[in-house]
Amino acid sequence: MPVHPEVENAIKGFLLDQEKMAEVVERMTKEMKMGLAKDTHPRAVIKCFVSYVQDLPTGKERGKCLALDLGGSNFRVLLVVLNGEAGVDIQSKSYVFPSTLMTGTADELFDFIAASLGDFCIENGLENESLPLGFTFSFPCQQKGINKGTLVSWTKGFNVPGVVGKNVVELLQQAIERRGEVRINIVAILNDTVGTLMSCAYHNRNCRIGLIVGTGTNACYVEKTVNAECFENYQTSPKQSMIINCEWGAFGDNGVLEFARTSYDKIVDKVTPNPGRQTFEKCISGMYMGEIVRLIVVEMIAKGVMFHGETSQKIQNRWAFQSAYLSDVESDAVGEYRHTNKVIRDMGFMGNNEADKINLRRICEAVSSRSAKLCACGLVTLINKMNINEVVVGIDGSVYRYHPKYHDMLTMYMKQLLKPGVKFELTVSEDGSGKGAALVAATAAQSK
Ligand code: GLC
Repeated sequence: MPVHPEVENAIKGFLLDQEKMAEVVERMTKEMKMGLAKDTHPRAVIKCFVSYVQDLPTGKERGKCLALDLGGSNFRVLLVVLNGEAGVDIQSKSYVFPSTLMTGTADELFDFIAASLGDFCIENGLENESLPLGFTFSFPCQQKGINKGTLVSWTKGFNVPGVVGKNVVELLQQAIERRGEVRINIVAILNDTVGTLMSCAYHNRNCRIGLIVGTGTNACYVEKTVNAECFENYQTSPKQSMIINCEWGAFGDNGVLEFARTSYDKIVDKVTPNPGRQTFEKCISGMYMGEIVRLIVVEMIAKGVMFHGETSQKIQNRWAFQSAYLSDVESDAVGEYRHTNKVIRDMGFMGNNEADKINLRRICEAVSSRSAKLCACGLVTLINKMNINEVVVGIDGSVYRYHPKYHDMLTMYMKQLLKPGVKFELTVSEDGSGKGAALVAATAAQSK
């Protein structure tokens, strides 16, 4: 049964061909160079922040540290013990993160984090130990050192006034001291991509890129220190490399990505707390994909093309179509509809027929394949920039983990774009914000 022509028409804008993908790579390369170079950095859109992480793991690290993870789908506190070659032990607890905190006050946010930390330490009998802590804070931060990070802007639905422009390490340290429950020293702040890279590199010497495709999207990679011009010691540092947190989600905020966007992207952008920002991220990540699909479906209903033109209460609600539904719909084999039926039921549609399911699947595929294409463009940009012939990419995030085709799509599109002979491996990286954060914190604690 064919896809309805109106559906084909609606999704046209998502079908980036090879030529457009090559154009994305070219533009992204240019923007990345601007972020790295000192004189263009202030006006660059892809910031390429210096992470102050210069040592990749050796696998022999030792130490006991705490880690905190804020900015993904869970808020977690972790205790990590690095046992040298004997491996890593992790204990962790997820705390329910009230969504009101995403737009509440700074004190509420940091007091909540400090309280959870206190609770975790007391529960694990750590209140009398003075442990170093690695803070995975997954938002754009301008770093001035391994434990100094100034928030540049909120992303992913967070909008807490009074934090942008401040050193979040200081805000958290103050909150911990206000409570006075535990003695903790925040020795490092890191982006989730950096934790992901470190955690993957712990097992895999060839890992040079950390990628997140979850609620948001971003990547970091290993650059030569001499190219990290925004690092004050870039010419004199004895260490050869520097991990760069690209913050590629902001790519396109200056308009260079318009040729890959659709009218639906523009509607989604307008209803976010950060309109005009994170253009690339809004085309790729889990926070937005479901909403894009919902908008197309709503339009198809209004045109009488899907669900007999009969809407449901649920589909009219903004953000009601979760990105996990794309994974569900696309996990059915062609011609089977077990998961699709459930999604359709969840969305409150009564009457539907096979054509609706075929059309819905086509819409989901268009949105998720564009996401994978753009992500592939980003990875190819980084691989070309590093100019290496073999690389492992450590990846985390709900979209990559749970979408049934994402890994294969990424692989396929990357192959289409990479120079012949370049080998790459995409692998799930476990525990970036635990193991990865601890690896960063252990090194930072030692060099104090
Ligand atoms: C957003 C954040 C970035 C983070 C990414 C993935 O893009 O700005 O710091 O790495 O989401 O969580």
